[in-house]
Parts: sequence; structure tokens; C-alpha cells
Amino acid sequence: MKTIRKPATMTQAMAGLRQAGASVGLVPTLGRLHEGHLSLIKKARRENDMVAVSIFVNPLQFKPKAYQAYPRDIEADKKLLNSAGVDFLFAPEQENMYPKGFDSQVEVVGLAGRLEGKSIRWHYRGVTTVVAKLFNIIQPDRAYFGRKDAHQLALIRRMVADLNFPVKIIAGPTIRARDGLAHSSRNTLLTPEERMAASTIPKALLAIETRIRSGGVDRMALTKELVTLLTTEPLITVDFAAVVDADTLDPDIFGKKTLIHVAVIIGGKRLTDNRVVASHMVAGHRVAGHRVAGHRVTSR
Ligand code: PAF
Repeated sequence: MKTIRKPATMTQAMAGLRQAGASVGLVPTLGRLHEGHLSLIKKARRENDMVAVSIFVNPLQFKPKAYQAYPRDIEADKKLLNSAGVDFLFAPEQENMYPKGFDSQVEVVGLAGRLEGKSIRWHYRGVTTVVAKLFNIIQPDRAYFGRKDAHQLALIRRMVADLNFPVKIIAGPTIRARDGLAHSSRNTLLTPEERMAASTIPKALLAIETRIRSGGVDRMALTKELVTLLTTEPLITVDFAAVVDADTLDPDIFGKKTLIHVAVIIGGKRLTDNRVVASHMVAGHRVAGHRVAGHRVTSR
């Protein structure tokens, strides 16, 4: 595996591959790789001639304290990438991504404000900005993102369509631990007690999915029930919970899929997870307008 740190060098290397007729799959990451990333890499490996992974803890999408605290272990990551058969690691320095005078950002204006985006619009702007930069630097044929970050995935799909990025966005499934907890780099920051408490998240999501599958359509009531289930665990503070249309993130639209989304705080660490229910799986599926709601449960 070749490690490249400078954007211009990466652009050149990728252009060389394209000229030679090779397709490139990109898996963008923040590092501290886990099973979720590895499953995206495997998919990219199957579908492309060359696989590039980026590791960059993007300061635009974190508050300063969270940026400092974000888990990093580039040597362990490199070992994993090598054994996963990755061809290129792009690991730029902050000053190369955001040199002095950097002054542009990319925002998916409406969609970014949905769900908890109302209060963390800056975070999503940071994500779309860095992903746009990675797409321009690497110009991959395909880029792979996990379904765990449903809002992020919807924003990236919208950005790619709106701004004509010539890249195909491929979504990979959420990979879960035995107890159902979604793999996330942040899990490594949890104490054993917090880790146990975190297993309440997938259980609560599954319970709401079951409700929806058996015909539950009152999204306000479903959201409230989700919050109640989560808060049976004393270490959990629910930051945000919502049941919305999966494509538009609009609570009033009943389309092909419903997204059950939650963000909780455990011991100061913010964990997000979701489940998606296809409408055709819902008993007595109704296409009806219901006024509901994601609601912020605590202030951030
Ligand atoms: O999901 C992530 O790991 C990050 O938000 C991404 C897409 C790599 C952008 O920094």
C-alpha cells in the first residue's frame, strides 16, 4: 500500500491510474478503523481495480474539544488497510487540506437543516466540504459510505447529484457487534459500563421497527416511545430522536422507507444509530400525512 500525504501527489497518482484504464473506489474515513470500514473496503475491493482509503480527522466537522479527543491510531489503521488489500492511503496533513486563506465551504442547504441538522448545520457543512474536496482530489469512480450515518449519506447523495460530481455513491450496511451496537470509532472511548449501557440503543431501535412493521404510523408517538425505551438506561441521555421519511428526512412524507434515527450521549460521548423500514414491509401500509417530528430532547 502506498501512503500519500499531499493532495497534488494524490491527484497525480489517481490520474495515472485512470489513464491506465483502472477504476478507483474511495472509502473516506476519519481513521480508527473498525469492522464497518472493513466491510466498505471489501465491497470497494470487489467492485474496483484500485482501492483508495482516506484518513483525515476533519477539523471542520468537530468542535475543538471533540477534535482533540477523536481517537487516532494511524499505525494500527495502516496494518488493517494493508491486510485488507488497499492500494492507496491518502492521509493529508491539516495544513495541506486547509491552507492559510482557505475560505470556501459546501452546504446542502435544505437537507442539512433536517433532523438535528438545525443545530449542527456547521458539522454537516464540514462533512460536505471535506467530501467535495476528497472527490476533487481523488476523482474516484465510486465512493463508499456507511448507512449508519443516514443523514450524512443523504447529504452526500444530494451534493453529488446537485453539483454533478462524476462519482457513484455506494452505501454499505451498518455493521453491528454481537449485542447489536453499531460499530463506531467512538465506541473505543466508552468505559465497560458505558459500553454495556450502549446496547440499549439497538434494542430500542428494533422495538420501534417492530412497531412500524406491525402498522404503527403515528410518528410522534413512535418517537416518544423510542425516547422512553432509551431512557430506561440511566447512563443514556437522548440528544435527538426522530422517525422520518428516509429519503427526504421529512417527518410528514410517507415514502418508500422510514428512518428511525437517534443520537444519544453516554458519558459525554455522542453515539448515533438508525434503522430503516421499507414501506412494503409494513402491515396495512398507509400513505398518509401525519404531522410529526423529530424532537430535540436535550440541548447540546
Ligand atoms: O463518516 C465519516 O467518517 C466522515 O464524516 C467522512 C465522510 C470521512 C468525512 O470526514
